[in-house]
Amino acid sequence: MSQAAKTPGFSTRAIHHGYNPADHHGALVPPIYTSATFAFPDVAYGARCFTGEEAGYFYTRIANPTLALLESRLASLEQGAGAVVFGSGMGAITATLWSMLEPGDEVLADLTLYGCTFAFMTHGLTRFGVTIRHVDMTDPDHVAQAMGPKTRVVYFESPANPNMRLVDIEAVSAIAHQGGAKVVVDNTYCTPYLQQPLVLGADVSVHSMTKYLGGHGDLTAGAAIFADAELAQRVRLFGLKDMTGAVMSAQDAQLVMRGLKTLTLRMDRHCQSAQTVAELLHAHPATAVVHFPGLPSFAQHALAKRQMRQFGGMIAFELKGGLQAGICFMDALQLVTRAVSLGDAETLAQHPASMTHSTYTPEERAAHGISDGLVRLSIGLEDIDDVLADIAQALDQAQAMVSQPSQAKTGVQCSAPIQEALAVAA
Ligand SMILES: Cc1ncc(COP(=O)(O)O)c(C=O)c1O
Repeated sequence: MSQAAKTPGFSTRAIHHGYNPADHHGALVPPIYTSATFAFPDVAYGARCFTGEEAGYFYTRIANPTLALLESRLASLEQGAGAVVFGSGMGAITATLWSMLEPGDEVLADLTLYGCTFAFMTHGLTRFGVTIRHVDMTDPDHVAQAMGPKTRVVYFESPANPNMRLVDIEAVSAIAHQGGAKVVVDNTYCTPYLQQPLVLGADVSVHSMTKYLGGHGDLTAGAAIFADAELAQRVRLFGLKDMTGAVMSAQDAQLVMRGLKTLTLRMDRHCQSAQTVAELLHAHPATAVVHFPGLPSFAQHALAKRQMRQFGGMIAFELKGGLQAGICFMDALQLVTRAVSLGDAETLAQHPASMTHSTYTPEERAAHGISDGLVRLSIGLEDIDDVLADIAQALDQAQAMVSQPSQAKTGVQCSAPIQEALAVAA
């Protein structure tokens, strides 16, 4: 049987898609086009570029050959009709939503969202006549009940940052489409390797490529991948060009393409290590609850098995000692780095209530399922024994603080500045 017509596998496309060295003097690595602008052979050609009749490049804020290669690779990896890249994940999210919404429209958003996405919707879009309504999308019936005549967009993350709640992409997409709305899924936690929202029925998949796709913590970037090429073009020519200008640099695009080459290897390792850490956390007497889709105790474990290839590298958990024990745990870490962001080679720990989700008021956090004691881990690529040893000793210290405060190396006093930060966020 001929192999010629077979679509190359995911890793092969992540490395090769859209590029032939023979077209570039044999260069194995695609060239970086740093030019902001592009020469026109004559005035008529330039004018046609501006009307869209000519597909040529004319200004990097709209399109650039290095960005275009990354866009075609992302569209291939997530089976989209088109993709647009941006200077950050928030650039992708805001440009996409500016392009899809008008005053009077309504967005149905899941209960839990990344802090700045929540802020953009609640403090941003609402100022321009868009209504945001939050519903708990862990049950698709809630979406069906909440859909109204003005609902244009159904928006969610799965898994949600920071508490790992999942949304059934296929079921919610079907409900949204029945009501005439489009579905936008933030697929940052999974990457196209672990989850394919468009295949499951969503219309747009947005990513912070600052995370796993870049993979090395050395750039900020975003992407939106579209089932419909016409919507992709609208987002490029309005959301990117006019509303945000959130263009990505060609140098960063090249770094993301370098990250893509090892995406599957890195994700396999992130997932394997996260499973091991989640099991350690689950078994430790200090923990009250561990949110990780790969644990059989996870409420949506069956859904995770159905819609994710593996369970990802992100974990959220709470200690029995609550906020103070969580802070004690974090301050006791020696190898694991206290930092926001995720998807890096380094294992990172952060405290959502005082950091990434301090855009919510305490009341909003309570209503949106983000408890003050929650700790978020992004499991990196270090030797797993070293990660486990560090987390185990930090858990032991948190446990000691709760049971015998006087014997703990770090004490309850470490929580005072956090309490202040939480109050300020109010
Ligand atoms: C789930 C999720 N979406 C979007 C963003 C925004 O991405 P960026 O920081 O690249 O703007 C983040 C950032 O942490 C995120 O975690």
